Amino acid sequence: MKTQEITLNINGEAVTLQVEPEMPLLWVLRDELNMTGTKFGCGVAACGACSVMLNGNVIRSCSYPVGATVDQEIKTIEGLAEDGERTAVQQAWIDHQVPQCGYCQSGMIMAVEAMLDRTPEPTDDDIDRTITNICRCGTYQRIRDAVHDAAEKRLNEQQQTT
Ligand code: FES
Ligand code: FES
Repeated sequence: MKTQEITLNINGEAVTLQVEPEMPLLWVLRDELNMTGTKFGCGVAACGACSVMLNGNVIRSCSYPVGATVDQEIKTIEGLAEDGERTAVQQAWIDHQVPQCGYCQSGMIMAVEAMLDRTPEPTDDDIDRTITNICRCGTYQRIRDAVHDAAEKRLNEQQQTT
């Protein structure tokens, strides 16, 4: 496989690098760009540890060729907090002490952010159906509580700005 120069849009910044277009996005993030917030779990699009957003949709970056992300907006866990200010989801994660080992959590948070963008008031069923990420520590109940809390905070924030 041949390398080629590609330019990516990651967290609002243009990044140009020389890679094989077939390389999974996760490898590019972690190994080429040293953005290690996104984790490697299963490598076969099953666990969700590697979740990032592409144009606002969650993708599993371990199984997504970097060449298919050119000219699109990639958002990773590093790009969530703006000007050091946590998102409502990040704050709820702290308030509910969601993480245990923490390994799955950046993928969880990315999946939750994307879900709340589409479904601002998710039911428990919505959460169970949408957040299919795997957590070996079993933090699912805390995740559910934090999602409801974050959803409420986001709605309040929106009301204050309209
Ligand atoms: S590492 Fe990508 S889904 Fe598990
Ligand atoms: S917090 Fe440990 S795997 Fe989810």
